[in-house]
Amino acid sequence: MATMAERLALAFLLAAAAALAASAVDTKLTLQNLCPFPVRPLVTPNGNFSSISDNTIELDPNGGLVSFPFPDTFWAGSVVARTFCRTPTSCDTGSSPPRTVVQLAVHSTEDLATYSVSLEDGFNLATVVTALFSDGGQCPALGCPLNLTNGCPVDQVKIDDCRIIVACKGDPGYFKRRCPLTRVNGTDREPLPQSCIAPRELKVVFCQTELAHLTMVGAASAQTELAHLTMVGAASAQTEHM
Ligand SMILES: *[C@@H]1O[C@H](CO)[C@@H](O)[C@H](O)[C@H]1NC(C)=O
Ligand SMILES: *[C@@H]1O[C@H](CO)[C@@H](O)[C@H](O)[C@H]1NC(C)=O
Ligand SMILES: *[C@@H]1O[C@H](CO)[C@@H](O)[C@H](O)[C@H]1NC(C)=O
Repeated sequence: MATMAERLALAFLLAAAAALAASAVDTKLTLQNLCPFPVRPLVTPNGNFSSISDNTIELDPNGGLVSFPFPDTFWAGSVVARTFCRTPTSCDTGSSPPRTVVQLAVHSTEDLATYSVSLEDGFNLATVVTALFSDGGQCPALGCPLNLTNGCPVDQVKIDDCRIIVACKGDPGYFKRRCPLTRVNGTDREPLPQSCIAPRELKVVFCQTELAHLTMVGAASAQTELAHLTMVGAASAQTEHM
């Protein structure tokens, strides 16, 4: 249990954060492709939120990168990767399940950003998401740094027209065992904070092979502590918006 002094210090930090959060910081979405093949990301706003990408871009293999500014008000949506596209809109994976889905929300109450990787719709590509600050600090990296298609239960594989195994439909137990920092059903939560106060960047990386080490420097460690404490309140605020 926290001592009284720690509680007071945290209460002070919370008050300071609330004051800071009165004006939302500029936050951008960055997508990076570390796969050895091109990826066409699909960014989809939830409900009536505005589009932030026209979804025409193709990310080059081995490092292709693109950034989009988020609106400066609350926004929620998802990101998926389309792979093995014959035309910009005809792809082997990503346009429909099974697919890995990144869920994002920014500029919620207290300028909170929340992020997660869902395998509820299956898996098509190793995907990791994190929130970054301009000083190099970051909130926890979440997602799946493994190729779950490799090892997919045989009755769950998705095969393309050329009879190549391209994705994995399930099962949730298999997914969770290999990638614990994902969500495999509607109530599943990661054993780490999934939100971050006023990050400058939400970064989604395809084919990242490890979860980046946490570099809790300066403000970032206080941010993470705060994110922990404000998660419950933020979650209910999110639900109203989404
Ligand atoms: C979305 O926008 C449309 C058209 O403006 C409107 O009819 C609809 O009610 C809106 N839906 C929500 C959930 O706000
Ligand atoms: C993932 O594994 C599948 C099945 O072994 C393989 O076909 C595919 O090329 C792998 N994907 C990546 C990105 O390595
Ligand atoms: C959701 O997933 C978690 C983690 O695998 C599991 O413990 C839980 O039983 C699942 N809940 C439902 C309703 O399937």
